[in-house]
Amino acid sequence: MQNAFIVLYSIETNSLTKSFGDVTAVNDISFSVEKGEIFGFLGPNGAGKSTTMMIFTTLLKPTSGQALISGFDVSKNAKHVRENIGYVQQESTVDEYLTGRENLLLQAKLNHIPKNEIRSRIDEILELIELVDKQNEAVVTYSGGMRKRLDIAGGLLHRPKVLFLDEPTVGLDIQTRRKIWEYIRKIHAEFDMTIFLTTHYMEEADNLCDRIGIMDDGKIQVIDTPQNMKNALGNEVISISIEENSNHNSFLSELREIEFVKKINENDSKITLFASNGAEIIPIIFQISSKLGIVVKSISLTQPTLDDVFISYTGHEIRSDDSGFNRKREHAKMKRLRA
Ligand SMILES: Nc1ncnc2c1ncn2[C@@H]1O[C@H](COP(=O)(O)OP(=O)(O)OP(=O)(O)O)[C@@H](O)[C@H]1O
Ligand SMILES: [Mg+2]
Repeated sequence: MQNAFIVLYSIETNSLTKSFGDVTAVNDISFSVEKGEIFGFLGPNGAGKSTTMMIFTTLLKPTSGQALISGFDVSKNAKHVRENIGYVQQESTVDEYLTGRENLLLQAKLNHIPKNEIRSRIDEILELIELVDKQNEAVVTYSGGMRKRLDIAGGLLHRPKVLFLDEPTVGLDIQTRRKIWEYIRKIHAEFDMTIFLTTHYMEEADNLCDRIGIMDDGKIQVIDTPQNMKNALGNEVISISIEENSNHNSFLSELREIEFVKKINENDSKITLFASNGAEIIPIIFQISSKLGIVVKSISLTQPTLDDVFISYTGHEIRSDDSGFNRKREHAKMKRLRA
């Protein structure tokens, strides 16, 4: 069935909500992703990223609200949604005891790719993800990065219009992660598709995404380009560490009065100042501290990172290192699914 309307957006949601009993995993989110964009959800464990993606890929039904993928409603038109998407889950789904090529053959059959095209499509994808040399070896011999590339290849065989990648580089070392970013960019350019991804990693969102939605506690806190997010905080971050028991409050209220200061975060004896003219502000900070008799233990001037952006919108640091609990949860889920 051809959609009768001209579809401008690859993803559109309207007050999308998903509850599991008392837990509202996705809480009334409305946003859209344009055709051809790489859009990322950045958020900590339990933010609701995977749940949103599972609704988009028709694996979960929304409790209320609407989601359209390539113009098709996930609740009313799941079949058409599935024909238009590729989905690479957080946990690997390839069969370890089959070769890379056999895994792709299986995937091609599951996706009903015409018989006479299967061979050429697999050859093309293997070339793209640089697994031609390893294609006839069992996946059990592959590194984590190779497995992830094979996972991604499986989601691409039927040439989807929208590719969903749930935490594409979680658990991989930084070099491998960078390689995967290269492949994602290559795939995006080659197939002219929309990519929606989720991540814990600031650097990943910054490197890959045209726009980012910061998600926390089921809500989208902000959507913007990585550059705009950083600009909103000014172009410099001044981190000040002062002696404990100092007169914090007067110090903070005087800092707030300084011209060019856009935002101040405070955490015990550490003060972070977002500003547009850091070099001129530092002498003023020293003037204020000496007037109030406050001992400044250290002061540094850096560029804002997405970490800073995340803190400024959510009030806390992104917890990218507490995934142990979640990995256990995922493994328990996989075991249940396999049983
Ligand atoms: N099947 C389920 N039953 C009950 N609660 C669930 C279920 N799936 C998710 N949740 C809860 O919904 C919330 C959002 O979970 P979700 O997996 O979407 O988060 P996430 O942002 O993908 O986290 P992570 O970064 O750890 O993958 C969490 O509180 C989670 O415990
Ligand atoms: Mg998740």
